[in-house]
Amino acid sequence: MYKYHCLNPIAQVGLDGFDNRYIKTDNYDEAEGVLVRSAAMHDLEIPEKLLCVARAGAGVNNIPLDKMAEKGVVVFNTPGANANGVKELVFAGMLLACRDITGGIDWVKANKDDENIAKTAEKEKKNFAGTEIMGKKLGIIGLGAIGIRVANAAKHMGMEVYGYDPYISVDAAWSLSRDIKHVTNLDDIFTNCDFITIHVPLMDSTKNTINAEAIDKMKQGVVILNFARDVLCDEKAILEGIKAGKIRKYVSDFPNPTTAGKEGCIVIPHLGASTEESEDNCAIMAVKEMRDYLENGNIRNSVNFPAIDMGVCEKVGRVAVFHKNEPNMIASFTRVFGDNGINISDMSNKSRKDVAVSMFDVETKITDEIKEQLAAVDGVFRVRVVK
Ligand SMILES: NC(=O)c1ccc[n+]([C@@H]2O[C@H](COP(=O)([O-])OP(=O)(O)OC[C@H]3O[C@@H](n4cnc5c(N)ncnc54)[C@H](O)[C@@H]3O)[C@@H](O)[C@H]2O)c1
Repeated sequence: MYKYHCLNPIAQVGLDGFDNRYIKTDNYDEAEGVLVRSAAMHDLEIPEKLLCVARAGAGVNNIPLDKMAEKGVVVFNTPGANANGVKELVFAGMLLACRDITGGIDWVKANKDDENIAKTAEKEKKNFAGTEIMGKKLGIIGLGAIGIRVANAAKHMGMEVYGYDPYISVDAAWSLSRDIKHVTNLDDIFTNCDFITIHVPLMDSTKNTINAEAIDKMKQGVVILNFARDVLCDEKAILEGIKAGKIRKYVSDFPNPTTAGKEGCIVIPHLGASTEESEDNCAIMAVKEMRDYLENGNIRNSVNFPAIDMGVCEKVGRVAVFHKNEPNMIASFTRVFGDNGINISDMSNKSRKDVAVSMFDVETKITDEIKEQLAAVDGVFRVRVVK
């Protein structure tokens, strides 16, 4: 029997993924698994029993990842689960930038009492007219879960698509329509595209990717879309670009005092992932990750430990050891098994930066004594007997 705790409300369709071996508890301290959305975990103690935290969403800055790793607590997120929700809003952003749709809607509201509104609208509509996206060039910086979806959908909308991602994953590359021009130099995006959209993670190296120098290289009347993070763009430089008439519109999903209410800026209140489907998908994925870890020890989409997958354990026992990524660790573990006369049927070792996980399927039940001997190896954070 496993106990899980929800630090935030989690979509029921996700929780339905737990079977009768799982009990929901209101007590954080007694849970083996915790589901969380935005609740801040930095000031919470890490209970002894806690084995994993699954964040239903992408960002994990509400969770102390290193502190969790030191205690052998695996933290998961749900990358890509909200990608379609963001993709659809990117298209809404593009269309809002092309015609003054919101200005037009406001005009209709302001003239709601005009008996002749239909006739007046025909005269006034030229004030809200614009352009189409078909045939225009769209540049996408970052071809991950969201960027790929935007690229493929834009192709279907008749756009000419340029994509830039020096670290594109093999899976993403396979999913990318072959009509998309994969460029290796960001300048090809800056100089050629009518619309530029950014979908990279926030890191020191990606901050201000769109800066004054980049804007200088852009076409007159370019539209810039930012549904990733505000600081990926130098927004002061963008306001200058709008003032100079170089940038037609800046569409952002991140309100802040720099851009809110500013001429030429269409700012949305962070609605990218705010769809029922995104919340459902995140909850379903978080519960699946948690179950595979609790039941089998497998790790997929962790943000503080490497991925490891040994399927379902068919042997007598399975043990997972979380440890520092240092030489001689595996030799120390196999010595413990050997000294206790235990045969290893299968094993896997994966590392990520300073931490590693070693998992062993064995033909003898793992006793508390063996567990203690493994835990006593220098550099071990935690030993978990999965089966
Ligand atoms: N608006 C929202 O509500 C919302 C929702 C989800 C995600 N996001 C943001 O969108 C970003 C992208 O999300 P995703 O799910 O597509 O992530 P992802 O990890 O699937 O894709 C990111 C891509 O960026 C690429 N990349 C990394 N550094 C790069 C660089 N310097 N230049 C070009 N490409 C680079 C990676 O190779 C990867 O393919 C997230 O980091 C997050 O900040 C926003």
